[in-house]
Amino acid sequence: MNLKITILAGDGIGPEVTHEAVSILKAVAEFGGHDFTFTEALLGGVAITAEGTPIPQKTIDICLASDAVLLGAVGDNKFNHLSPDKRPESGLLQIRQHLGGFANLRPCLAFAALAENSPLRPEVTKDVDILFVRELLGGLYFGGPRWWNKETGEAINTMRYTRDEVVRVARIAFQLAQKRRKKLTQVDKANVLEVSQLWRATVDEIAKEFPDVTVEHQLVDSMAIHLMNRPRDFDVVLTENLFGDILSDESGVISGSLGMLPSATIGGKVNLYEPVHGSAPDIAGQGKANPLGAILTAAMVLRHSGGLEREALAVEAAVAKVLAEGHRTGDIARGKDEITTTTQMGKLVHQALTETLDRHESMHAV
Ligand code: IPM
Ligand code: MN
Repeated sequence: MNLKITILAGDGIGPEVTHEAVSILKAVAEFGGHDFTFTEALLGGVAITAEGTPIPQKTIDICLASDAVLLGAVGDNKFNHLSPDKRPESGLLQIRQHLGGFANLRPCLAFAALAENSPLRPEVTKDVDILFVRELLGGLYFGGPRWWNKETGEAINTMRYTRDEVVRVARIAFQLAQKRRKKLTQVDKANVLEVSQLWRATVDEIAKEFPDVTVEHQLVDSMAIHLMNRPRDFDVVLTENLFGDILSDESGVISGSLGMLPSATIGGKVNLYEPVHGSAPDIAGQGKANPLGAILTAAMVLRHSGGLEREALAVEAAVAKVLAEGHRTGDIARGKDEITTTTQMGKLVHQALTETLDRHESMHAV
């Protein structure tokens, strides 16, 4: 398997966590005789500093010429004074548009070893396995008009969706639900917003193509509380862009830390992979970041761009093993837990992974 992977390490803890994710991908490549090549490019604050723009043309070209793009994080407080279109985050939104992926898959798993990390009781989070499908190219993030008039003190953003934009992401969500527990929860604010009514009607229409999938609709405010009270009831959760952004962060409470959550964006020209967490400038460069979100994101690269399901599962199993052994970065440490650094955590997963792959290999040889 050949994969040309572009690395956009970005800002803050981005470079530290992507470094660990890349070393996991290299281990898989070496083991399976795959040819993975890695090219680095600038995006976000580092690109503003080096090139004066959050998204240099060269970055776009490199990304479009690759098979997968793995991003660390973007965002730097240094640029907080800039308008949204000039900030590091704008680079991220623009690369998402260029790559064209509209279905952002954000799995939320409750790792058994982290049951005590969540403020929710272990019996509430036990075996939770939710897949958020967040629409990534529409809604308030991209709709126009948008402006802030500082003289009149008025600002506007536009939540806009077309039926086709809903149809394409809904089909992906239904297909994924078919391969899982066959339940789809669509989240909106249909009691107030016309855009949400469009979503509801469209999802009901597409549901007819997938009679084996059970569909329910939830209002986003009540969904926020259901997610904490009874997360085990949810399988695939389909949302528009902003609601998905908020609910997927909330789901970090179930996993024990936002630092555990991976994501993959599919459906466009080139898949884009990014952990859900941000650039965490307060802990950047100190070896404190949790690389597991990025490593689990690497597993999604293997699954969705490499078709390497067995290897993806092996990476996920290696993460579960390291957690079960009690290794903890600061965000998932409790009480007297000894703290593991970003690099150590990466090495531990690497080691657990090579052991698993070796074992599989010898099993196959028998
Ligand atoms: C995320 C982030 C981004 C988003 C920001 C950094 C633009 O919060 O990936 O969830 O809102 O999509
Ligand atoms: Mn977010």
